[in-house]
Amino acid sequence: MAVLRAQESSRPDRLFDDPYARHFLQAVDPASSPWSAGASPATAGFLRLMAEQVAVRTRFLDRALLEAAGRGCDQVVLLASGMDARAFRLAWPPGTKVFELDFADVLAFKTAVLDGRGATAACHRVEVATDLRQDWPRALTESGFDPARPAAWLAEGILYALPPEAADLLLDRITGLSAPASMLALDHMEDSELLRSARADISAELVGLWRGGPTENLDAWLTRRGWQPAVTVIADAAAACERPVPPAFDPAHAAAGRGWLATARLPKPL
Ligand SMILES: C[S@@+](CC[C@H](N)C(=O)[O-])C[C@H]1O[C@@H](n2cnc3c(N)ncnc32)[C@H](O)[C@@H]1O
Repeated sequence: MAVLRAQESSRPDRLFDDPYARHFLQAVDPASSPWSAGASPATAGFLRLMAEQVAVRTRFLDRALLEAAGRGCDQVVLLASGMDARAFRLAWPPGTKVFELDFADVLAFKTAVLDGRGATAACHRVEVATDLRQDWPRALTESGFDPARPAAWLAEGILYALPPEAADLLLDRITGLSAPASMLALDHMEDSELLRSARADISAELVGLWRGGPTENLDAWLTRRGWQPAVTVIADAAAACERPVPPAFDPAHAAAGRGWLATARLPKPL
């Protein structure tokens, strides 16, 4: 993700600017990372397939989170936050708390890199070191999250990597912690011949990372739990940004799959 965000940030027509992405790359020994620029033709091929999807989804999700924060969701939860630098790079309304959930070592690496660069969070940033397979709702509330207040949730780059029952549990837990007027933003993609073979060229481990996520369509999956979803296909989101349809999600390509971006709101009681 950092490679793709750094690449996009260097474009004159960039859809977002993430000045921190290249710092994460510079902190890693290129010899030890399959993702370093020019690592191999296989890596370059996979990154090319994903690049426009990541650019478009980042812009879409940035806007969704800022819009929710602007209308009162002053708690923002980034699930499996990885190298997501939104806590640093977005103009949050004063008083916004951003919770970042990931493994302790991932958060420690991220914070060490950002501290080393003198980066300052643009919000009240709270690290929540946890395993999302364990009791993370408890870790989140113990870190100061208030389930009685509306929140903006982000599940980016996660759903496709979860088995269906884990995806259901994730959404059940988010819903259980969400006060009325909360917002959930996410991306999702189905696997495809194009993506599978590009991943297989890199490693078998990467092939196995795709576990499918929700078995029903996102509209039904979210509506069933009381959310009011708005689902967009990647091709339309790309067109709205005047970007080409990402090849891995191009309906004109037989080996491509479908990809979606979604926001959903929990209605306020009448
Ligand atoms: C594909 S990245 C997505 C990162 C981020 N959301 C983004 O879009 O840049 C996956 C992230 O999930 C984290 N992760 C994977 N399994 C996890 C788990 N069981 N508990 C917590 N974090 C996990 C990884 O450490 C990694 O940072």
